[in-house]
Amino acid sequence: MKATVDRDACVGCGLCESVCPNVFEMDSDSIAEVIADVIPPENEDCAIEAQDDCPVSAITVN
Ligand code: F3S
Repeated sequence: MKATVDRDACVGCGLCESVCPNVFEMDSDSIAEVIADVIPPENEDCAIEAQDDCPVSAITVN
């Protein structure tokens, strides 16, 4: 399972990093980036939660 962030859509709310810090991290421009090439199995639930809760639907997990 992998995650991607549409960095043009991200508004920097930080929710993804808060709920799933092993997969998402805010960069120096306060835009989310994916820090896990492959989502660790134990982080899949929180990555999906981030996808579902991102206010601008910038996250895709599949
Ligand atoms: Fe950006 Fe959505 Fe995360 S707006 S900071 S990708 S929750």
